[in-house]
Amino acid sequence: MKSTKEALLEELLAHPGEDCSGQVLAQRLGISRAAVNKGAAALKEEGWQITALPRRGYRLEAGSDALTPQAVEACFPEGSPFARVVVLREVDSTNEEAKRLAAQGAPHGTLVIAGAQTAGKGRRGRRFESPPGGVYFSLILRPALAASQAVAVTGSAAVAVRRGVQALCGKELAIKWVNDLYYQGKKVCGILTEAATNFETGQLDYVIPGIGINVFTRPQEFGPEVSRVATSLYPSGHSPVGRVALAAAVAARLLEMCPSFDYLEEYRAACFVPGHWVTVQAAGQEPYTAQALEIDDQGRLVVRLPGGGVTALSYGEISIRPAPLEP
Ligand code: BTN
Repeated sequence: MKSTKEALLEELLAHPGEDCSGQVLAQRLGISRAAVNKGAAALKEEGWQITALPRRGYRLEAGSDALTPQAVEACFPEGSPFARVVVLREVDSTNEEAKRLAAQGAPHGTLVIAGAQTAGKGRRGRRFESPPGGVYFSLILRPALAASQAVAVTGSAAVAVRRGVQALCGKELAIKWVNDLYYQGKKVCGILTEAATNFETGQLDYVIPGIGINVFTRPQEFGPEVSRVATSLYPSGHSPVGRVALAAAVAARLLEMCPSFDYLEEYRAACFVPGHWVTVQAAGQEPYTAQALEIDDQGRLVVRLPGGGVTALSYGEISIRPAPLEP
């Protein structure tokens, strides 16, 4: 049995950005106007952006959602696919929080979402800027997979981000090997996958893909250095899509891909790197220039080295560079 607040939210969610008469809402829900008012106030308390319009009723602002587990549930009227949902206004890092929960036995399908991170982690020990215009989330997965197959989880996460953003925002993202998503030539999303292995079986105990999407961060909120290379889906600062809704849409698509993690075809089609000259930075090596050829069947980037040899990179950092001049 739905509470008044839940029933009111359902009505308002059916008409985002529209004025809904208080009287009509009261009639539809079979409650008094005072009860509608009380329900709207309770929803505002949770963070939903509801504007009370004198004599015109109530409006749920487009793209509004609350940083609450209920906002995730509201995205799945047929039932949430997640075993457990934790939503935090701010956390050190959703990956760290997910690892803490996994260590306490949190089940497969536990989703941790935050509106900001104070110690967001990027790849290669870097910091990941995590201001409140983005959404940051980590999903605990416990597939029966060998640790060596974890790379498919990151690739699948990139594909799930593309699918979620395309479905909710109608925007096409490109993939930069290995795990960055680009919009209009700049990075809008980064992925960091962490895992724990059972040493006796060699199987994953858990794997946690952590995803950060810049949703409506304005360029000035990144700082000058980051804003040269990063952007957000809605750099004007106004998003018609809620952050929790976007995180839930992506995480649900990723959960659905588990355990087959069948991502390669879509990943290859969206990856813009093959065909370019790149600078490769691999841990403990001097950067070098190579020509990117293709993504192979294991998700590795195949490159031609300056001496003519061909090698496949499993990990590393690349940047696109202009083709060298002919001698
Ligand atoms: C990168 O681009 O270097 C990877 C960035 C990954 C960021 C996400 S945000 C959610 C999760 N929590 C973290 O601390 N990092 C990942």
